[in-house]
Amino acid sequence: MPVITNIEDLRVLAQKRVPRMFYDYADSGSWTESTYKANESDFQKIKLRQRVAVNMEGRSTAAQMIGQDVAMPVAIAPTGLTGMQHADGEILAARAARKFGVPFTLSTMSICSIEDVAQHAGEGFWFQLYVMKDRGFIERLIDRAKAANCKALVLTLDLQILGQRHKDLKNGLSAPPKLTLTNILNIATKPRWALGMLGTKRREFGNIVGHVSGVENMSSLSSWTAQQFDPALSWDDVAWIKERWGGKLILKGIQDAEDARLAVKSGADALIVSNHGGRQLDGAQSSIEALPGIVAEVGSQIEVHMDGGVRSGQDVLKAMALGAKGTYIGRSFLYGLGAMGEEGVTKALEIIHKELDLSMAFCGRTQMGQVDQSILLPGTFPTA
Ligand code: GLV
Repeated sequence: MPVITNIEDLRVLAQKRVPRMFYDYADSGSWTESTYKANESDFQKIKLRQRVAVNMEGRSTAAQMIGQDVAMPVAIAPTGLTGMQHADGEILAARAARKFGVPFTLSTMSICSIEDVAQHAGEGFWFQLYVMKDRGFIERLIDRAKAANCKALVLTLDLQILGQRHKDLKNGLSAPPKLTLTNILNIATKPRWALGMLGTKRREFGNIVGHVSGVENMSSLSSWTAQQFDPALSWDDVAWIKERWGGKLILKGIQDAEDARLAVKSGADALIVSNHGGRQLDGAQSSIEALPGIVAEVGSQIEVHMDGGVRSGQDVLKAMALGAKGTYIGRSFLYGLGAMGEEGVTKALEIIHKELDLSMAFCGRTQMGQVDQSILLPGTFPTA
């Protein structure tokens, strides 16, 4: 077993252990992947200012996201098909997040259902909602999230239509995987994954199968989801969902200052500067580049979070320095999950926490509340 010291180690191990179609699903961006790559490379361009002989005792990375105490300003992002990276993936990741003291966000397109995660990992996680044409189904999903005592609804606004990811088309992505010869041969080289999957009943979209009529098998499910995402989604729907939900609302997928102003107007509690991990509009700005403009526009009126490209504690520190009040990790936790299950997600959180704690100290700060733009080298970071 290799010694794991960073997120890249987890990625390499996940690539060995997870069947190609699911590893590729997580590790893809849309079209040329330029936005996907920029999410990471734009973080690298930002330089931190080292300070010395500053008392580093009594450090803490504790913070708050939407009024909730968090061990560090890092939530687990909603990711589709998490339970295909590792058997029972959502339950394992939710457990790891709970033990660590950071929020876990369950995707609408998860394998384990809301009720299943609540029962086996505890209530109170955050729930991510996609808006479908069948508003009755959306109402029931919202009610199910309320019944599981979810502490926030994360409404995704940037995936009513799907950006093309070449590998998913070439691999014939589906859950459970279609047993083509190529897939069988590939899965045969992933015994840990296969054993896990044989040992669980959770192999389909748990929030959907059994909750809408006419969706009994894989092909009816995939055509249902393809037809169901509602391209007519509007700010009126946001208002309706806010009213129906009645709890903390986070709007995910904001890149533009005008949309940020509309997000404030909607009365949401937070917005996430996000380009969906570079999986939707290829050619869009990286999230870290978009962040300062959104913070300047609305940062005094709404909590601004960000996701996209966060692979280290240094990345978290840079996002916080540019005015984010919280960050999300998607691939970083998925690599951990695919590599080592719950232990791997814990490992990912530990790695990022340690990097954040030490880097904050190298910058001469001991508390997250002291982290601002002054820890960055002028001329190296994006501005509004
Ligand atoms: C879904 O959220 C996806 O990006 O595939």
